[in-house]
Amino acid sequence: MRTQVCIIGGGPSGLLLSQLLHRSGIDTVVLEQRSRDYVLSRIRAGVLEWGTVETLRAAGVGARMDAEGLPHDGTYLSARNRGFRIDYFAQTGKRVMVYGQTEVTADLYAARDAMGGVIIDEAQGVTLHDVETGAPYVTYHKDGTEHRIDCDFIAGCDGFHGVSRPTIPDTIRRDFERVYPFGWLGILSETAPASHELIYANHERGFALCSMRNPELSRYYIQVPLDHTTDQWSDAAFWDELRRRIPEDTAETLEMGPSVEKSIAPLRSFVSEPMRWGHLFLVGDAAHIVPPTGAKGLNLAASDVHYLHEALTQHYAGDAGAINLYSDRALARVWSAMRFSWWFTTVMHRFPDQSEYDQRMQESELQYLETSQAAQASLAEQYVGLPF
Ligand code: FAD
Ligand code: DHB
Repeated sequence: MRTQVCIIGGGPSGLLLSQLLHRSGIDTVVLEQRSRDYVLSRIRAGVLEWGTVETLRAAGVGARMDAEGLPHDGTYLSARNRGFRIDYFAQTGKRVMVYGQTEVTADLYAARDAMGGVIIDEAQGVTLHDVETGAPYVTYHKDGTEHRIDCDFIAGCDGFHGVSRPTIPDTIRRDFERVYPFGWLGILSETAPASHELIYANHERGFALCSMRNPELSRYYIQVPLDHTTDQWSDAAFWDELRRRIPEDTAETLEMGPSVEKSIAPLRSFVSEPMRWGHLFLVGDAAHIVPPTGAKGLNLAASDVHYLHEALTQHYAGDAGAINLYSDRALARVWSAMRFSWWFTTVMHRFPDQSEYDQRMQESELQYLETSQAAQASLAEQYVGLPF
């Protein structure tokens, strides 16, 4: 088989890139190692920056998001069980959209199918070849047969554990990493959200987040030690702990019910440079991971896709230098979101060696955020997303 851009990974990065390129007349094949049902059942991000919303609309996949997504003008922060609001819209003139990654992925699959896009699922043993040359190719197995795809470019959209990043030699690649000493235990429950907007809570027992997917489906997270497992956390224990950490008035009225999903995610900051080597581009989680506190993971994937789509359309229109700019443009935005996610994580979480002094510093930072217009404007500008 031959295509112009072979895309490894059928998560949000790979599907969105395929969709945008197809609409620009560039041919792609997507190789995904898992089944479609598996990809569509993963519960992940929930908040879209406005730039992501506009990118999805430009890709022709905005209709259901615009009908069912929940635009949010602000968020509550909380310290010592007392919340205050940051008004993103008043500070920046922009909002965010609460619309789950699961829905974004479903919309992208539907759009790809409608346009006759080629997505090969359950592709095993995907291997990249001759990436540093002008004639790269990809091999994989499916149904007991080995297949080969020749292409002009390969887009590595295969997440943190994928095969694309390790293809770049150690002598070229530079990795930067911080691993945090805690994880997030998340549950999904078929209950009304705790509040009409998200609540990010700092508490001496640990961080908590009240989020949602729609008016009947809530998403909650609490910080837990890294060695905890979901078996240790009954639903009742989860609700008790959540209620201890959030504003008192919210805890009193919180609607509780059985969890329909429960999982633990470790927190990590990671960047791999460069994001292009020869004819291979890295996109999304394949190149970088942020701790989820700032809700940036999926949004960074969307901005990478935006830059790569632009570079490839310019390349095929005859601008031979366009692809040289991709890595630097994407990384500039990645590092600023990295900084915001690191800062917000540091302010909101309880660290194992944290002293009372450190706790007071966090509370003082939150008090500054409550009382300073400048501090609120800075948080708001970064939360709604810096421009692409
Ligand atoms: P992925 O979504 O990881 O997609 C990569 C795809 O590549 C997958 O479908 C995978 O199966 C496929 N693949 C991997 N290896 C191969 C291979 N060898 N061959 C072929 N295909 C391959 N972000 C937030 O903003 N908020 C959150 O609450 C949040 N929660 C998260 C929870 C978890 C458990 C994880 C892992 C991430 C979370 N994120 C969150 C981050 C966000 O989901 C990611 O940033 C986003 O999914 C990145 O999209 P992606 O397409 O780049 O990577
Ligand atoms: C959600 C996840 C986040 O990491 C975040 O910062 C906000 C919301 C969510 O899953 O709803």
